[in-house]
Amino acid sequence: MSKRKITIINGPNLNMLGERDPAVYGTHSLDDIEKACHETANQYGFEVEFFQSNHEGELVDFIQNSREESDGVIINPAAYTHTSVAIRDALEILSCPIVELHLSNIYKREDFRHKSYVSGIADGIISGFGAYGYVLAIEAMVNILD
Ligand code: DQA
Repeated sequence: MSKRKITIINGPNLNMLGERDPAVYGTHSLDDIEKACHETANQYGFEVEFFQSNHEGELVDFIQNSREESDGVIINPAAYTHTSVAIRDALEILSCPIVELHLSNIYKREDFRHKSYVSGIADGIISGFGAYGYVLAIEAMVNILD
């Protein structure tokens, strides 16, 4: 039997992690984070598919395509968290669990970051634990799926 799959989706500018405002987002690159995700998921007997895009439509396509291939979706929609009805609608089509994830605590930041289009359809939210949030999100997803 093949391993169950957790899909991790990252929105715009997260490819710049490490360089981008390290005081807010930390010093780990997205590659470092991806590696930690594979390691964590492996420990629990899951596999990870990891994706990043700066383009809203590409993110929507990827979410749609994961509907039959994924057991659980973790998404850091980045700036699209606060703007994208299209990403929310795509996520709503999925029947698997969804965890919303942010490196920073969005509720401690500017007012415009306090509104999330995704929270209303997510099973849970992890926000404010930096790169470690990815590990926490995988553990939360494993807990939902097991
Ligand atoms: C973010 C928070 C968003 O407000 C911001 O636009 C991002 C990253 C986070 O991971 O903390 O790009 O989702």
